[in-house]
Formats: sequence, structure tokens, C-alpha cells
Amino acid sequence: MTSKELREKWLSFYKSKGHKDIGTVSLIGDGTTGVMFNVAGMQPLMPYLLGAKHPMGTRLCNVQGCVRTVDIDEVGDPTHFTFFEMMGNWSLGDYFKNEKTAWTFELLTKVFGLDKNKLCSTVFAGNDSVPRDDETAKLLQKLGIKKEHIYFLNDNWWELDGTINTPCGPDNEWFYPRTDKECGREHCDINCPCGRYVEIGNDVYMQYERLGDGKYRPLKNKNVDTGFGFERMLMCLNGETDGYKTDLFSGAIALLEKASGQKYGEDSETTKSMRIIADHVRTAVMLIGDENGILPSNVGAGYILRRLIRRAIRHARKLGLTTEHLSEVAKEYIENVYDKAYPLLVQKEEYILSSLTTEADKFNKTIETGNKEFEKLVNGLERKIEFMKKNDPSLDEDSLKVISGKAAFRLYETYGFPIEMTEEMAAERGLKVDKEGYEVALKEHQELAKQASASAKSGLASSGEMETKYHTATHLLNAALKRVIGEKSHQMGSNINAERMRFDFACDHKMTEEELKKTEEIVNQWIKEDIPVTREEMKKEDAVKAGAEHQFIERYPDIVSVYTIGNASKEICTGPHVKSTGELGKFVIKKEEASSSGVRRIKAVLI
Ligand code: ALA
Repeated sequence: MTSKELREKWLSFYKSKGHKDIGTVSLIGDGTTGVMFNVAGMQPLMPYLLGAKHPMGTRLCNVQGCVRTVDIDEVGDPTHFTFFEMMGNWSLGDYFKNEKTAWTFELLTKVFGLDKNKLCSTVFAGNDSVPRDDETAKLLQKLGIKKEHIYFLNDNWWELDGTINTPCGPDNEWFYPRTDKECGREHCDINCPCGRYVEIGNDVYMQYERLGDGKYRPLKNKNVDTGFGFERMLMCLNGETDGYKTDLFSGAIALLEKASGQKYGEDSETTKSMRIIADHVRTAVMLIGDENGILPSNVGAGYILRRLIRRAIRHARKLGLTTEHLSEVAKEYIENVYDKAYPLLVQKEEYILSSLTTEADKFNKTIETGNKEFEKLVNGLERKIEFMKKNDPSLDEDSLKVISGKAAFRLYETYGFPIEMTEEMAAERGLKVDKEGYEVALKEHQELAKQASASAKSGLASSGEMETKYHTATHLLNAALKRVIGEKSHQMGSNINAERMRFDFACDHKMTEEELKKTEEIVNQWIKEDIPVTREEMKKEDAVKAGAEHQFIERYPDIVSVYTIGNASKEICTGPHVKSTGELGKFVIKKEEASSSGVRRIKAVLI
């Protein structure tokens, strides 16, 4: 069966049972559920499942695109996809288990011709609030599903992860074996780790609402929410064990084979790379070409898109492919696979291809140097481990096989390697990445960047008299804090205007009254001493060696200005500053508060 036929058959079957085709909605989350993408066919129907009246009635169906990124690391195997389509149908307080079990069974066995003797089904095993779903189990058995093919499981409960006030309920999942060949384990059934059985879809009996306190309240309506995986169904219907061998992907895979000169399915690494490229490019096309299309960026949905494109590029390079080839694959999806079901893609074709190419070209510029850097890092780490093991053979090697968070952050910041990509590359070399350390480095960087842009906006270059005074006061405060709470208290950011200064610094506690008083006194003492402020130009390295304070060392030019205030302070800075501290008047701390974790903020004025 072709994908176009399957799409048509699903819709016409449910139309024949009185359903209306409601069409599809955008893949990009509308912000109402807290979910970034549309992850299920039911998502846009939420208000109606909770009881609102749908304008098209109580029996609805469609084939809806979804994007789920939780399984992104699984992509590369035969049955995982980041974009997929869900064939859906709904009863909004209309029919329930009786009709639903019968129709799913009829569609699977009569229309699609699946063997009822091979069909397996799982139903809810029950918990404290909801009873075991014996009713569904009985109906299934009556229809002809073998008793030993019906399983009661605790997991058979469906709800949108992480949401509240959303409809949910027990579900009835359907499984079909990808092949008749058992793997050799004792029970090669739906639970077997070999993955012989795939879940092709589920009927959710959506009769509860999940509340904020984790409790469930029965809904006014007894609804049915059905979702069947389009790709997996197509695979089963064509007797394939690999979703990438369906007509959805055959054009893309053929292009990848031709361009790389390698055969899909021969070498496992090559096959995995081809699947990743085929999947990620397809999702990228869908996200860019969506009615609310997005572009790659460093945050939110845009970051996911960036990750997908960059990962596709990494795997493309493994096969010796270029941006051109990725573009050809994208074109194949737009023109030959989704032209009818997603006509907007055809309209937006040029835009999609150029957006994809722009992102790919950008990453291609840095990936090579980044790869070299990564190699250096790994080699260094391996040498270090070898050396340490030689000295102490009892050392736990695994705890050493970790790429530092700082190094991972550098790969991201300088070469655009998403952390997940670094993790994947590290795993290929038997290494881990210190993700927590990475998060800390990222957060620190974001804080600095925020401050940098804030101070840029506050007009460093055109500082007036007061701003100039506050710049100098900032240096004094930075230095005074080091004396009061210790060397570890370094500057994390600052913001100045003519009225006040704000200063963020690393500190693990709320400052005491005494510490604040002391800080104020030190600054005022330096002001009283009327110390001259001197400026010197020197090489960046020399400035660091001389102990000059600095914040964004990698962003400074090679020659920097160092401002020295007697023995009080030495800092790399672009200025401007007063000639002598006596000009500052009196320094008064107005407020001390938390800024972010491990970072405190002082607001102060000069009077
Ligand atoms: N809402 C159900 C699912 O996403 C049908 O699987």
C-alpha cells in the first residue's frame, strides 16, 4: 500500500462511520498547553474533549502531523521518527468502547488485512482511582483477538506529559509483529526487548481531567481519542520491518545512496546516518514550511530545529555529502511525497530550501575546526587517563572519561556544536560529557551577555559625568567585595545609568549587614584617599599575568586598557573613568538581593 492510499483509506473508513475530516493544524505549539510542538492529534481538540461543542459535530477524524523530540536519540533505528503523522479519530461524548473496539478491529483486519491471529492488544490494569479495564478486554476477545494476546498493563494510561487541566484516560494499545521470526528469547512477545512487535496505535478512553494537584476528575463526556502511527502502519502493511523502506522515504534514501555511493542496509553505521539525515531533514522541512513556520535559533523550538539540521549535517559529512545533497532530499519530500497532503510546502519551497541551506552553510564553516578541536580534546583526555592509570592502576577509569562542561560549552559557543551533538560524538568514543558543568557555563555566559548588551544599551561610549563616576565606583565595589567576601567574589555583570549602579557578583550567601557596611566603608575610604586612576595599554596576556580583573577575556582585543586605582584595583576595561577617586562623593549601598543562583546583586548610588 502506498502512503497516499493509506491516508485516503483511514479517512474514508471513518467518514463511512459518520466522522467529519477536520483537516490539520500547525505543528508549532500554540502556547496554550506548554508543549512546544503539536505532539498528538488530540492536542488541538483539547477544549472539545473537556466538554466544549465542536462546530463539526461529535465524530471527527484527520491525519495530523506531530513532532516529538523525546525519542530523538532513538532516531537511527528502523522505527523512530521526530516528525510523524498520526491517523486520528474522535468521539466527543458520542460512541464509546463497544463501537471503538469493533471499528479498530474491522479497519485493521478487514480494510488493512492484518492477521487477527497476530494482533496483540494491551489494556489498563487499574489503580487506586480507576478500575481495571475488563470491559475492553472482553470486547476484544469477543471480536476474535486471542486471550493470550491481551495484556493488562499499568502503563496503559494516556495523558500529555507535564500538563494540567487536560483530558486523559486509560488506553487500549495495539501491537503487530514486524516479522514472524522470533528472536530466540524465551518469550518473544510484545514485551521482548528485540522489538519484534511495534505499537501501531492506541484508543484512549478519555474520561478524566488531570488536575493541578495530581488528582483526576471524571469528565462530563466519555470521549474516545484514537491515534495510529502513519509510518509504522505503512511499514506493517507493506511487510517491512523498517519504516525507512516505505515510499515516504524511498526517494530520499535513493538520493543518499546515489550521492554517497553506499547502499542502505549494508553497513549499520551508514544506515543509521542515512536514517538520521532522512528523518531530520524531513522534520526541518515541515517545521520551516509550516503555516507558523520557524527558523533555526538558539532558543526554544528554533533550537530544536537547529539541532536537527546540525545533526543531519554531521551525519551527511560522515557519508561525504554536502549541503547540496541535503537540499535535494528536502526537495524530494516537498515535491514528491507531501505535495498533495501539505500543499503549503510547495508554495514555500524556495524559502524552505534557502533557509535550510543558509543554516547548513553556516555550520559547515565551523564544523571542521570544531571536529579538530574535539579530536584534540579527546586525545588529551585519553593521554591523561593513560598517565593517571599508570600512576594508580586502581583508579576508576569511567569517572575520568568525562569531557568537561567548559570544553563542551566552548565547542558550542565557538563552533556551534549543540551539546547533544557533543554528547553523541563523545559516546561514540566511549566518553561522557559533564552536562551540569555545561549548563553552568552556559548560564554564566548568558548572564554576561545580558549584562554586556545592557551596558552597551546604556551607552558606554557616550557616558556622561555621572555614568563615568559610576564606572569607577564599579571597580572600587568589585575590589572591596573581594576583600570582604573573598577572592571568589568576581564580577558577573553590571549596569549603569546616570541615577545608579547595579553590580552582579558571585557569592554563595546573602550578605550580612556587617559585610555590607564593611564594603561601603572600604569604598568610601578609597574615595577619601583621592587615589589617582591610571590607564595603561598592554597585551591581553600581560594584563592577565599582572592580575588585572577581567570579565569577557575571549572577547577583548589583543591590546587592552588596564585601569589601576592605586593598590585598590586593577581591571581590564574600556572606560571611561574619573581622574581620581575623590571625584566620586559618597558611595551608598541601597539594596542587596539575589540575582540568580550563586549570584548576588547590589544596587548603589553616589551622593
Ligand atoms: N492521544 C493518543 C496518542 O497520542 C491517541 O497516542
